[in-house]
Amino acid sequence: MLIPVILSGGSGTRLWPLSRKNLPKQFLPLAGELTLFQQTVVRARALPDSASPVVVCSEEHRFLVAEQLQALGITDASIVLEPVPRNTGPAIALAALQALQRDPEATLLVLPADHLIGDAGNFTDAVHKALPLAAEGWLVTFGIRPDAPETGFGYIRRGDALGSDAFRVEAFVEKPDRATAEGYLAGGGYDWNSGMFLFQARRLLDELAQLAPAMHAAVADAYQSAKTDLDFVRIDQDAFAQVEADSIDYAVMEKTARAAVVPVHCGWSDIGSWDALWAASERDAADNRLEGDVLALDSHHCYVRASDRRMVAVLGVDDLVIVDTADALLVTRRDRAQDVKQIVEQLKTGE
Ligand code: GDD
Ligand code: MG
Repeated sequence: MLIPVILSGGSGTRLWPLSRKNLPKQFLPLAGELTLFQQTVVRARALPDSASPVVVCSEEHRFLVAEQLQALGITDASIVLEPVPRNTGPAIALAALQALQRDPEATLLVLPADHLIGDAGNFTDAVHKALPLAAEGWLVTFGIRPDAPETGFGYIRRGDALGSDAFRVEAFVEKPDRATAEGYLAGGGYDWNSGMFLFQARRLLDELAQLAPAMHAAVADAYQSAKTDLDFVRIDQDAFAQVEADSIDYAVMEKTARAAVVPVHCGWSDIGSWDALWAASERDAADNRLEGDVLALDSHHCYVRASDRRMVAVLGVDDLVIVDTADALLVTRRDRAQDVKQIVEQLKTGE
């Protein structure tokens, strides 16, 4: 059984002021009518033979998730609730344990809830290429061709071919520094880790038990004491607090000998910042992306979003991000969009 796992626990601080703690970016309709979370669920649902998803999210977002699933007519998902965030390693391990309840042979397609995929057909093709590899016990990641020395991604060096258009992972380096990333880009032979994975639930847990035994044991403990009510699987706070926080990339993918990469060309973007959203969006003749009631004159390469309360006019400006909401307004340059998280940090310390 192919079970999609939707990771929905991120906070999306770089998309402030629209993305907030109680309404993070994955639950917003940032690109299109459906939210990013809903688009991810629909994409997974469209795969032939895919079962209802396991969603892993923060306890405080349970009603958002339930409502957004219900709006899609999906009533049979498992929603695993994390009382505290522990990053993607424990989240995926919880999902694997939950999936095994449904099917001891379950294969998991792990999908972050906040990615945009322009070409769903190519994405589906890549999943089909990866399925036989997962069946052989490989932990498959989907590789994206890099076009900039991004330091926020994992980098994968391709090794020997595994059939057509799939490779053994020779090295996996999570978030290299700038100079290293520049070297990888110049030298070629590297893919970005998309953060989407395909593997057998059993195999993932076995690798975790070997490579991160403390995390594996603590997650298994926490899962054992979970309480299920309605669609929610509630993880116990004290038990989950014992789990060390780490990403699947550091905990497993960097270390395992069983990693494979299937390249995918699907118009992928992880919508990490306003600039990334601008880049992934269709733009007008002046290269602007305007959302809501916006008038732009003699302005270029801008992302401008009005709230529904008032219009926004820009005149004679280039390369700006302007995002208006009911209680906060952001103005920055597109090339500073990554630093928006500093605003959120500053606001937090000011609390
Ligand atoms: N349920 C749950 N719980 N989900 C989480 C948690 C958590 O504690 N932490 C993160 N997530 C979700 C986020 O919402 C996001 O959808 C996804 O897991 C990945 O987490 P990020 O925090 O966005 O990871 P990253 O961007 O630093 O790095 C990952 O993604 C890159 C591609 O976007 C890595 O996998 C990199 O290797 C990869 O290149
Ligand atoms: Mg991310």
